[in-house]
Order: sequence, then structure tokens, then C-alpha cells
Amino acid sequence: MARKQNFAASDEVLYHVGICKNDLQGATIAILPGDPGRVEAMAKALGTDCKFVGCHREYTSWLTTIDGVRVLVCSTGMGGPSVGIGVEELARMGITHMIRFGTTGTIQEEIDLGDCIINKAAVRLDGTSGHFAPVEFPAVACFEVTAALIAAAKEANADYHVGISVSSDTFWPGQERYDSFTGYVPRRFQGSLKEWQALGATNYEMETSALFVIAQALGLHAGAVCGVVAKRTESESIAPKSAYDKAFADMIKIVQGAVVKLAKAGK
Ligand code: URA
Repeated sequence: MARKQNFAASDEVLYHVGICKNDLQGATIAILPGDPGRVEAMAKALGTDCKFVGCHREYTSWLTTIDGVRVLVCSTGMGGPSVGIGVEELARMGITHMIRFGTTGTIQEEIDLGDCIINKAAVRLDGTSGHFAPVEFPAVACFEVTAALIAAAKEANADYHVGISVSSDTFWPGQERYDSFTGYVPRRFQGSLKEWQALGATNYEMETSALFVIAQALGLHAGAVCGVVAKRTESESIAPKSAYDKAFADMIKIVQGAVVKLAKAGK
């Protein structure tokens, strides 16, 4: 069944992201980091002809050009609710393809700090996705976007893994961290890390399940790649910046390659 899609007028500034379709200069692909502070560096590392577009709340937007393809880089902030708002508004401006570019904590021994994880699906340990589809509905990535990310990761010779994320609304209890203010983890989450491990899930982060379910519900195409900045089989802590820097360099190449492949395939 064809879904109704309500596009904004070209000059309508969307309330939360604070930009309009005219600002996008034809971009239909968006790269979505969580952190607004990383958008500018990401846009400049990804491509050329970079341009600041807007900044409102957690949504900072820059344009970049990757091999002739105009691409938007727009932060989503942390967690499902702000992803949900951002994705709705980007869709209304004509964005059709989205790649989350985030950080994550691995729960599998064989995945190291600084590696990249391409998520093909996510456990819906979030609240936002339930506002778009019933809990039985899967959080799966777009096959074409994921295939492009994997092919690009191979070509870049990146240290990458493909797996299932556990997307939690919280950084501490939902990810079974005990180094919090009270150290208390509710019974529901006690032992949950071991269970996700046993089920073969690869990583914890906070946005991917919302992105995947919302993209499917809205008729969009989403994928995700994250850099490993915590190794939960060894520690609850976030690693020194060198781990992020290693993953960042690989993720830039992966996203560049994926964008080129998607554009060549006419998406
Ligand atoms: N982001 C998360 O949500 N968890 C981690 O462990 C690291 C990054």
C-alpha cells in the first residue's frame, strides 16, 4: 500500500531542525551523527564544498559533497525521541536515505576498541520506536544501504563487523552499567548484558532501533555504522579518544564509499 507522504513547502523552515528544503541544495542522503559538536568535522572529512546550514537545539546541519553527490550531515542528539523528531522533519524536506554515524560499546570479546560495527538490525530497548510500530515489528536496516556500507568497509580495509545492536534508552541501567550515581540496576536489566551476548548481539548504543523502525514506517531507507569506544567485556568506561579517532577514520571511508555506491545505483 502506498503511504501518504506530506512534504513541506521548499521555503518552510521545519520547527525543530530549523532548516528548509531550499537549504539542502538537492541533497536526499543524510548522515546522522548523534553529537552536534562533531558535524562540522565530519562534513569536512567526508567531502568538499562544505557549508553550514543551520543549528537549532540538538540539530546542527552542514552540507558536504562526496564525489559530486550533495549530502546533508545533521546531528540527531542522543536517544530515540530526538531521532524521531529529526527523521520526520528530514523526510518532510525530501531526505530519503539516512546513515547513522555513531559511537557504541561492544559486548563481544572479538570486537575491539576502534573497530567499526555495521548494524543490520537492532533490539528495540527504546520507547520511541513503539510510537511508530507495535513491539513485534522488527528494527531492520535497509538492505541496499547496509550492503553498500559493507562493500565500502571491505574496500577500505576497515576493521569492521556486521551485527545486531541493542539500542537502549539509557546509558547506565539499560546497558547494565553499575558505575552510576547509585550503582543500582533494576532487576529487569540485571544479567541482560550476558543474555544479549549469548544471543549474538554485538553492541550497545542509543539510537539505531528508533531510526530503523521509523525509517521503515515512513518509507525511508536507513543504515548504521558505529565506532567502538567502550569494550564491555573488559570495562564499563569510555576509552581514550584514540579509539574514536581510529574508528572515525574508517567510518569516514565507509560512508564515502557507501554514498558513492548508492548514488551510482540510483539508490
Ligand atoms: N554509546 C553508548 O550508548 N554506549 C556505549 O557504551 C558507548 C557509546
